[in-house]
Amino acid sequence: MDNFFLVENPLIKRDITYLRNKETKEYQFRLALRRIAYSLVSEISKKFELEEIEVETPLETTKGYKITKQIVLVPVLRAGLSLVNSFIDMIPDAKVGHIGLQRDEETLQPVDYYYKTPKDLNQSKVIVLDPMLATGGSASAALSFLKERGANDLIFCCLISAPEGVKKLSKNHPEVPIYTAAYDRELNENGFILPGLGDAGDRTYGTL
Ligand code: PRP
Repeated sequence: MDNFFLVENPLIKRDITYLRNKETKEYQFRLALRRIAYSLVSEISKKFELEEIEVETPLETTKGYKITKQIVLVPVLRAGLSLVNSFIDMIPDAKVGHIGLQRDEETLQPVDYYYKTPKDLNQSKVIVLDPMLATGGSASAALSFLKERGANDLIFCCLISAPEGVKKLSKNHPEVPIYTAAYDRELNENGFILPGLGDAGDRTYGTL
């Protein structure tokens, strides 16, 4: 899969282990998730186009760079919020849109309950954030909503993904790169990723 990027390094592997561990407390879970997000944003930024600019050092003029496109982060509520701060730390001038999607636990289909994004999506690089790519229903719907509003340069970023979700997203949105820090075995009959880490939203916000 050309557009699938499994981002791995020893720090990510250690932190994914913290996330998987059912004994990990909420504050440890949040911190590990934040650290993984820094590695992800660093990897994703390799896709950012740069423009050359001139910069005056205290001694002379030299070549510098600025990021060409406006970056728009779009966390999928609620769990996607847990990734936003790390991304903003690294891209302080990013704008942030929000999409509220909840998976109907019986049909496993995404239901939208909120949508608000910055203008000019068609001129921005839009990074959709959601820690989990399970069936791919939510991610696929989020990307479709954004495309309907003009987004044409999209990236999807998650922490953990299942083959079923990656397959669905690659089929429905083949041009959208997928970044993930873990690629797991399969989904169970309830649509949970195995071995997984449970529900990232519940574990981040303590709503188990
Ligand atoms: C989880 C997760 C994704 C979605 C993934 O959200 O954060 O948004 O499920 O599942 P899918 O790939 O099968 O669509 P959930 O509905 O639990 O809401 P939450 O963010 O409020 O925890």
